[in-house]
Amino acid sequence: MNASLAAMQLMLATKEAGLDSCPMGGFDSEKLIEAFRIPERYIPVMLVSVGKAAKPAYPSSRFEVEAAAVWNSF
Ligand SMILES: Cc1cc2nc3c(=O)[nH]c(=O)nc-3n(C[C@H](O)[C@H](O)[C@H](O)COP(=O)(O)O)c2cc1C
Repeated sequence: MNASLAAMQLMLATKEAGLDSCPMGGFDSEKLIEAFRIPERYIPVMLVSVGKAAKPAYPSSRFEVEAAAVWNSF
């Protein structure tokens, strides 16, 4: 949960700084640890690429807030 919140904050800050980002959960953890010489105390759970988008993102959609949030109780 902490990593997810930190990643979201990083992505928002990235956008604010005029850059783009993409979260990734599909990666080879062992190869990542080896390539970046990640110390044992860290457990990679998510990657976030940061940079300038090569082209605009494809159109996407989101649920309306009423469909995704519950106010007070069900
Ligand atoms: C938790 C999470 C994990 C993701 N993992 C990957 C990934 O492994 N590889 C990848 O190319 N994109 C990954 N994405 C990015 C999505 O494929 C997609 O590009 C992004 O969510 C924006 O598209 P959307 O507006 O349709 O959600 C991931 C996104 C999320 C939220």
